[in-house]
Amino acid sequence: MTPSLGAPVVVGITGASGAALARATVDALLDLGAPVIASASSASRLVWQQELDESFGAALERWADSGLFTFYPPTQLNASIASGSFATRGMAIVPCSMATVAAVAHGLADNLIRRAADVCIKEKRPLVLAPRETPLSAIHLENMASLARLGVTILPPAPPFYLRDLTVDRIVDYVAHRVIVALGLADTMPEKLRYAGP
Ligand SMILES: Cc1cc2nc3c(=O)[nH]c(=O)nc-3n(C[C@H](O)[C@H](O)[C@H](O)COP(=O)(O)O)c2cc1C
Repeated sequence: MTPSLGAPVVVGITGASGAALARATVDALLDLGAPVIASASSASRLVWQQELDESFGAALERWADSGLFTFYPPTQLNASIASGSFATRGMAIVPCSMATVAAVAHGLADNLIRRAADVCIKEKRPLVLAPRETPLSAIHLENMASLARLGVTILPPAPPFYLRDLTVDRIVDYVAHRVIVALGLADTMPEKLRYAGP
């Protein structure tokens, strides 16, 4: 069992492409020793099934083995993370669908992921969204701009083209660590994923 790092981090997994980003983010947080409370939308499960060989159930079992992991279904609106009185270190939604971006931008707290994000905004806790869509419409951009003005970090899973030997695994790893830095859980990116200059 990994030693624990204080209050938990919330991870929301929604139905945008990029299930590997969700998996890598939870893996990296648990590796850091951060307790994780996660929820995953029904759409995210469809995407996961399409994109990854490891089943979602197998990942849940693997994460539970850390002793640091709690999972709630998105319908469980009475879970701890739905209340601002429950302390967390913030939340990442990875990947974040445009539906969830729109809901959070408009305060539509109609599932546990959206409610937990709403709580982070009202409690002024770190909230990091990794929105995945292309191209982006004016609706998407306006919703993201509203959230950015509230202090939400909009962190698109953009490849670090400046790194050599770029593979999908490395891009996924890079985004997961960017999320961790944006949450304030690490000061810098690992050296292997950092721009080194000429
Ligand atoms: C295989 C698959 C891939 C999808 N990819 C995206 C995507 O990249 N970005 C996006 O915004 N929505 C995508 N969607 C649509 C969302 O899943 C859909 O809007 C859903 O209602 C989002 O709900 P959620 O935010 O609660 O997960 C995808 C759906 C499926 C089934």
